[in-house]
Amino acid sequence: MSNVLITGGAGFVGSNLADRLVAQGDKVTIVDDLSMGLVENIPDSDLVTFYEESITNKEFMEHLLVKNKFDYIYLFAGVASVADSVARPYETHQVNQEANVFLLEVIRKRKLPVKKILFASSAAVYGDDPQLPKTELSRIKPLTPYAIDKFASERYMIDYGNLYDLPTVAVRFFNIFGPKQNPSSPYSGVISIITDCIREGKTFNLYGDGEQVRDFVYIDDVIDALLLLTRSDKAAEAHGTYNIAAGKKTSVNDMIAAYEKITGKKLDINQEAARQGDIKYSYADISKLAGLGYKPVYNIETGLEKYWEYINK
Ligand code: UD1
Repeated sequence: MSNVLITGGAGFVGSNLADRLVAQGDKVTIVDDLSMGLVENIPDSDLVTFYEESITNKEFMEHLLVKNKFDYIYLFAGVASVADSVARPYETHQVNQEANVFLLEVIRKRKLPVKKILFASSAAVYGDDPQLPKTELSRIKPLTPYAIDKFASERYMIDYGNLYDLPTVAVRFFNIFGPKQNPSSPYSGVISIITDCIREGKTFNLYGDGEQVRDFVYIDDVIDALLLLTRSDKAAEAHGTYNIAAGKKTSVNDMIAAYEKITGKKLDINQEAARQGDIKYSYADISKLAGLGYKPVYNIETGLEKYWEYINK
């Protein structure tokens, strides 16, 4: 049984990871200010301790780290919306970068015996650079405060690893979908929004012609990747940054067609102009992660099927 901290553990990815860890008998501590996460996402188990706190509360975080001596730390807390980061650049910076660097600093100064620290970054760091697919060595072109802070925090993780021998690793998430993703914001994941529209009979606003391409990856595959990088016999080899994606390209139109087939329902679509700054093509080369043994189990159809099954449970 390991002792695990998940910041942002009430959010989409964090809560799915918490489910998996609790199922394997780990003790999980969650810190989440519920700015985006939902309390109902948190697994109902004696193994879970939940603190409704912001990771920017330094005193609280330092005390928590020193008291608990976590084996594994997963850093998912953050301002998740790019649009939000543009509206509130400095506040975003305090959460998405400053708070994470502070945690590293506590771990370093207090010599805390962590086995692995994983930081969640984003494909947003690649910006609109046209080179495809994105490899971890592709050009970095952060275009928003969100992307800048994600990239800077990645670098801090890697450099604290190199300079102070901390066992860090960073991941760049592509378009993850599945249970517990909150569809409430217009900048929520497009599949969570479509799911909500199909269920509630609402109209879906399609921005652009639907021919934009994404690398959609099902949450269970993402959790497998996270465990591979932190908990498997390959974890000691995992350094630097890894793309987490399915390594497949799917247009929004093709995704919608597949979903309509699975649900047997027609999505009511209202076409709008493309979003300002929207990236037309985004997909990943996942060979670095595959080199450690990662192989996604789901494709877009089987992922959507499983998601829809969960929704109707
Ligand atoms: C994703 C990330 C974002 C990151 C970016 C980097 C998510 C939820 N967002 O944005 O944080 O900066 O990758 O590449 O993972 N769309 C609609 N209608 C909607 C919502 C979306 O047509 O109601 C379209 C979007 O315009 C976009 C596509 O669907 O073209 C995917 O949108 P979204 O799920 O928000 O993801 P990204 O734009 O790829």
